[in-house]
Amino acid sequence: MSNNSNEPWVEKYRPKSIKEMALPMAKLGRQRVNVAEKLKEFIHNFFEEIKKINEKNQQIRSFNRTATEKQQKDEISLPPEKAAVLLEGQPGIGKTSIVYALANDLNMEVIETNASDTRTRDSLEAKLKETSKSRGIMDFISEKKKKLILIDEIDGIYGNKDRGAVPAILDIVKQTQFPIIMCSNEYKSNLQSLYNIIPRYEVHPLPKDEMIKITIKIMKNENVKEITKEDLELIIERNGGDLRGVINDLQALSKGERSSDEERKDMIYSFHRDTTEEIFGIIRDLFQEVETLEQARELTNKSDVDYNFLYKWINQNIPSFITYKDELENAYENLAEADKIFGRIRRNMEWSLLPYFYDLFAGGVVLVQKKSRSKGFRPVNFPRYSSSAGMSLSNAEKSLYQKIRQVYEISQTEALRDF
Ligand SMILES: Nc1ncnc2c1ncn2[C@@H]1O[C@H](COP(=O)(O)OP(=O)(O)OP(=O)(O)O)[C@@H](O)[C@H]1O
Ligand SMILES: [Mg+2]
Repeated sequence: MSNNSNEPWVEKYRPKSIKEMALPMAKLGRQRVNVAEKLKEFIHNFFEEIKKINEKNQQIRSFNRTATEKQQKDEISLPPEKAAVLLEGQPGIGKTSIVYALANDLNMEVIETNASDTRTRDSLEAKLKETSKSRGIMDFISEKKKKLILIDEIDGIYGNKDRGAVPAILDIVKQTQFPIIMCSNEYKSNLQSLYNIIPRYEVHPLPKDEMIKITIKIMKNENVKEITKEDLELIIERNGGDLRGVINDLQALSKGERSSDEERKDMIYSFHRDTTEEIFGIIRDLFQEVETLEQARELTNKSDVDYNFLYKWINQNIPSFITYKDELENAYENLAEADKIFGRIRRNMEWSLLPYFYDLFAGGVVLVQKKSRSKGFRPVNFPRYSSSAGMSLSNAEKSLYQKIRQVYEISQTEALRDF
């Protein structure tokens, strides 16, 4: 592993194995469960069952080859509850980390995709193809590795005009040859029928004393001396359960010059003040003001929101600002490209590539706007929370959304929800 000072601590200290991590409390229905054990079981059972299914389907296929049309049998698939599970919980509590740690322990490769990209299915297929494609000497190794599919932000998935979000997800689930773990930040009523089918684990934030232990270890390792236990407690309190936020703050704070207790305290308070207001401004400026890559960089460098956060906001706001189909397509194309780069960064620890990731998901997305630069007020959408549906839509807005919906095939409720 390279010793790269650009490496964000949240990645550097991502646990490599379940054994070395503090497991968050999780519930399945009312029952408290060990989520790592449950996931392990799920993965194990998946491969046993899919093997049987594949064997049966082979028999069905060979039967069908000689059977009359009337006698033809349908192929079968794994019931959805055995093909996928959902981890639900607020941002930064370790859902993604559990999945990667587990994959490491089981010597599996994680194929990660993002559900708020409407082309989840295509992009997943492309990624799966890419990994099984010849890769020279690595081929031998990766061919042997089983795959684990991680679909993030399932709460952001769009259905298209003839079908809702849930059938779109179930489509993927039905056809999968690999176990699927989905992540979501919150309960979504439009996903209720999905919850009825696949196991949904509610993951809770780590308790404060665990967070303190984790952060103290990091400080020791980074040789950070001036941050006190009081600072730590304040950071943890300010982040409300978000361990990723805690670690990001810690890294930012440790970059400061030697400072007094008061100065550090002020700094901690400044980290999250106005974050929401700030991000609203950044999103508007990015989509509506920025005209060059240089300007996009300036804007993203200036803000101290982390890339995870910014990425989600940009992703969520694309359909609000970009209205032409070809521009939308280009925007999503660049976002997918950004995803690819990030996958590479994470796999190979190439943190020096992080600026290119930013360029693609920020500049790359907003600069596709050529024909129309939306002027005037456009709603900025909060990625994690949805406001109540479109009572206050003006007719103009309604017809605009109608248009977006048609060109981009997002569901009515999904389009309206964002107002
Ligand atoms: N023992 C630990 N257990 C869990 N997470 C840890 C631990 N030690 C450090 N971390 C850090 O905590 C962070 C947890 O963030 P992670 O990305 O897993 O959250 P998440 O729940 O997937 O968030 P989101 O919903 O936004 O995707 C990671 O950056 C990881 O490095
Ligand atoms: Mg995550």
